[in-house]
Amino acid sequence: MDSSIDPRALFTLSYGVYILSTGYENTYNGQIINALMQLTSDPICLAACRHKENYTTELVEKSGRFSISVLEEAVPLKFIGLFGFHCGRDFDKFGKCTYEVDEGLPVVTDYSLAAIELRVISVQEVFTHKLFVGEVEEARLLKEGTPLTYAHYHQVKKGKSPENAPSSIFNKVK
Ligand SMILES: Cc1cc2nc3c(=O)[nH]c(=O)nc-3n(C[C@H](O)[C@H](O)[C@H](O)COP(=O)(O)O)c2cc1C
Repeated sequence: MDSSIDPRALFTLSYGVYILSTGYENTYNGQIINALMQLTSDPICLAACRHKENYTTELVEKSGRFSISVLEEAVPLKFIGLFGFHCGRDFDKFGKCTYEVDEGLPVVTDYSLAAIELRVISVQEVFTHKLFVGEVEEARLLKEGTPLTYAHYHQVKKGKSPENAPSSIFNKVK
């Protein structure tokens, strides 16, 4: 890495931790994502950045829809590992969680405070990743609680970020 870039400076950015899911032709899959943010309020749009090689990325490009489950702070590391350290090409993640399906789109409800459903309105290549902008079509609160932040995941839960996460660099500064 360029010596003028101190990764600790990037570690000061704030994020949440979410499960992004999709469904295509009766195949459901999802992945952990921290690179998610709200862009606009009327209409409400969110942006999600995902690695090109992820199975979820491939399926969202086909389905044109995705859902977000906002994870609560109490979520066990093992559950995050299910969606963040396994690839759905050779592992059935939805056989190991509770979820709801709305017109073919699954949304994970375990350890989730809110469920948001979106339709993709644009896709932008960003080197190794693809940035999906989605317009929110539905959003509902599942329960009250404290959302998991990326800082809590690293500093308190002592979690790691795999290579495909945009922020995997953080593993090197801890
Ligand atoms: C805490 C955490 C944050 C992550 N953030 C992202 C992210 O923002 N974008 C991304 O593409 N992958 C991210 N990942 C990695 C994916 O969840 C991981 O590569 C997953 O296994 C992909 O699954 P799939 O191939 O079934 O889609 C993250 C993983 C963890 C544990």
